[in-house]
Amino acid sequence: MRILVVGSGGREHALVRAFARSPQRPELLCAPANAGIAREVRVLDIGVDDVGGLVAAARDEAAGLVVVGPEAPLVAGLVDALEEAGVPAFGPRAAAARLEGSKAHAKEVMAAAGVPTAAHATVAGVDEGMAAITRYPVVLKADGLAAGKGVVIADDEAAARAALGVLLAEHGTVVVEEHLVGEELSLLALCDGERALPMAPAQDFKRIGEDDTGPNTGGMGSFSPVAGFGAAEVDSLVRTVHQPVVNLLRERGTPFHGVLYAGLMLTRAGVRVLEFNVRFGDPEAQAVLPRLRSDLVDLCLRATRPGGLAGATMDWSDDIAVSVVLASAGYPISSRSGDPILGLEDVPAGIEVTHAGTAQRDGVVVTAGGRVLNVTGLGPTVSAARAAAYDGADRIHFDGAQLRRDIALCAQGGAG
Ligand code: AMP
Ligand code: GLY
Repeated sequence: MRILVVGSGGREHALVRAFARSPQRPELLCAPANAGIAREVRVLDIGVDDVGGLVAAARDEAAGLVVVGPEAPLVAGLVDALEEAGVPAFGPRAAAARLEGSKAHAKEVMAAAGVPTAAHATVAGVDEGMAAITRYPVVLKADGLAAGKGVVIADDEAAARAALGVLLAEHGTVVVEEHLVGEELSLLALCDGERALPMAPAQDFKRIGEDDTGPNTGGMGSFSPVAGFGAAEVDSLVRTVHQPVVNLLRERGTPFHGVLYAGLMLTRAGVRVLEFNVRFGDPEAQAVLPRLRSDLVDLCLRATRPGGLAGATMDWSDDIAVSVVLASAGYPISSRSGDPILGLEDVPAGIEVTHAGTAQRDGVVVTAGGRVLNVTGLGPTVSAARAAAYDGADRIHFDGAQLRRDIALCAQGGAG
């Protein structure tokens, strides 16, 4: 079986590795990939937004499965186009991917499905937006894909007015929502149009700075599993959050296939959904997938078929995984490219380095994006996993590298 993975980030590198562990021994292709993925599988030079090119390549290569990593091609209808061409594709069709493509649509779905979320209003003008604010801080969200940069937390009227102006100019509509306080949790589930099968829970560190300071990023690190969220708690969350959405979208004739990722806030009043994504999380995948013992090829194929996950289970390693991001100078405001990356060969076996923004130039691996590498350590305790991740990260060098030293520190606890 030949599998084409679409994307070029750390998530896609983690996916390629998880597929490579399958007993089915698939032949793997990746488009457009990065320098690390290119060392492991055959690469096709086709961008993630080239729907026609990807469909033609999948057909020419007789791919038995295409797995789409990022959200933009899902929202643009890549899975629709692949299925129409007769290629099995893992991920939601465009109609179901709107859950991530439009925050206003996601709120409408949550209301209709009875899924708890923050109180909110969808607005199209600054004055309308200001009138919808009842207290500060307030959360303002662009109603469209914004690559992790569409959420502003405004502390006062002046900040809210300024942010509304910017977000409305770029996106036309904005969701104004209640600011929630609590612990965040990323809970991803594989969906086959009928049921949601939860994956191991994870936590993501979104801010650039230690102690959760500075601007939001795509995510600077992650760990999995999360203490306190065993099978019973996870099942209860999936029944409250994912399954009602899967049921509703099925009733509406737009069944959800692929990964439904719920960004959750565990407030004192109960769980609230902050957002839905329609794909694996990045960097959650880099901490979750190395622990998966079940065959990801089989699971993804099953998820493409209505009800195909019936009877499926996911088996996880007992190890804790901690994944640390090395980002380039300037990230998340800008990113610097072309800095040589040294020390990759010095990382001990067993510590997983996945590439994100990297490229190969004259035989040297160089930086080529904001988030450059992920280093994932595994171990029987959080502190062992952290020690492995930072041991690996500290052997790698490039100019201006940024990393957070406090990834999963909060999880270390007394037992750590
Ligand atoms: P989102 O893209 O909607 O997940 O938002 C990005 C980040 O902004 C989340 O991971 C939270 O840290 C924060 N956030 C989003 N919505 C809220 C909210 N209603 N209250 C507090 N923080 C929020
Ligand atoms: N880690 C956040 C995301 O994948 O959207």
